[in-house]
Amino acid sequence: MNNVILVGYMGCGKTTVGIRLSYRLKIPFLDTDKEIEKDHNCVISDVFATLGEETFRNWETESLVKLCKNNAVYVISTGGGMVLREENRRLLKKLGTVIYLRAKPETIAERLKGDTTRPLLQTENPVQRIQEMLQKRASIYEQAADVILDVDDKSFEEILDEIERKLA
Ligand code: S3P
Repeated sequence: MNNVILVGYMGCGKTTVGIRLSYRLKIPFLDTDKEIEKDHNCVISDVFATLGEETFRNWETESLVKLCKNNAVYVISTGGGMVLREENRRLLKKLGTVIYLRAKPETIAERLKGDTTRPLLQTENPVQRIQEMLQKRASIYEQAADVILDVDDKSFEEILDEIERKLA
């Protein structure tokens, strides 16, 4: 079996789906944001504030290069901006099956209400920011994906069943 990689916008459920999927498939779970925090002994929001987004994006690419050298198989949850670099999209495809958890802006806005951990959403009007970012990113997520899965109004069980069917 190949790695199974979850991509999608912040709040689409990558981490929760990823952890549950790893139980079902009996392969370990790995979150690239957490790996970056571990490797660089940092908190992502601080990196954005001090070193800047570009540094974080470089670290994201490094995390994928590192995974490509690792022979183990994982369910991998990625940060919402991982797909933005063409190089990252290429590395993701090399790593395994890329699944895009596609969610509507309203679903995301509802899930991320009051969240303070996402530096890109700390604005006056996060809902507008989500809409603008999704408009720019939607086609990039689609381009990066082998499988597109709509998650709005679905339970985690339904999402996991669908993923298992697509992987079969
Ligand atoms: C980001 C998403 C975040 C994290 C960083 C940037 C993005 O990950 O990598 O704050 O650009 O969409 P999650 O999607 O896990 O929240």
